[in-house]
Amino acid sequence: MLTTDTFASRLRAATIAHHSAAETSGFMSGLLDGTLASTDYAHLVSQLQLVYAALDHVSSQHRDDPTYGPFFDPRLDRTRALAADTATLGAAPVATATRTYADRIDAVAADPLLVLAHHYTRYMGDLSGGQAISAVLARTMGLSAHEGLAFYQFDLGPLPRYKNAYRERLDDLHLTDDDERRFIGEVLTAYTLNSAVFTELDQRS
Ligand code: HEM
Repeated sequence: MLTTDTFASRLRAATIAHHSAAETSGFMSGLLDGTLASTDYAHLVSQLQLVYAALDHVSSQHRDDPTYGPFFDPRLDRTRALAADTATLGAAPVATATRTYADRIDAVAADPLLVLAHHYTRYMGDLSGGQAISAVLARTMGLSAHEGLAFYQFDLGPLPRYKNAYRERLDDLHLTDDDERRFIGEVLTAYTLNSAVFTELDQRS
């Protein structure tokens, strides 16, 4: 049970409304309720490819940073999986909102704390709701780990344990109030950027 006196729990509480907005966006809802076509999903994969090209690249630059280092895990890297999924599904045009998102990751690239905020937003999401999305897409689109869903396959052992350990590492950061505010602010930005991508994809579908 999360309590409000840990950073991980304060982070979750401060971002829950933004999470909810992303989760219930038209595009995500459509993916989850099985009403979108595999071509719509292909559009999402092409957006993720650009985002993770930026995130995975910037992430590896901070692997030895005392703040970022404990979170760096090459098994999280999604670049290769996304290339495989794109080969299966076909490439789609990159949305303007996706470029804005990747540009933001590049803009904060020198600041390990803000890069970590993007790391948390995407990877913890992929290890959580992403797993539910993958299960639905396997059922409704006939995709599999080898055909279109490599992105959601993580070789990390039991995911709840991995996520709990990740939250413990967040608590172990012992951020100053100012850094905590900066981190949470960047997570909110990351959610907004994700939602903008979903809005643009929704207009395409
Ligand atoms: C259909 C869409 C989604 C569903 C069903 C969903 C569902 C969930 C669930 C059930 C959790 C809690 C997992 C746990 O405590 O073990 C979670 C956590 C999380 N999700 Fe999502 N999610 C969705 C979309 C997203 C999106 C689009 C993002 C960001 C891009 C995101 C980011 C996160 C993050 C960062 C967490 C960790 C929260 C924390 O405990 O600190 N999710 N999600």
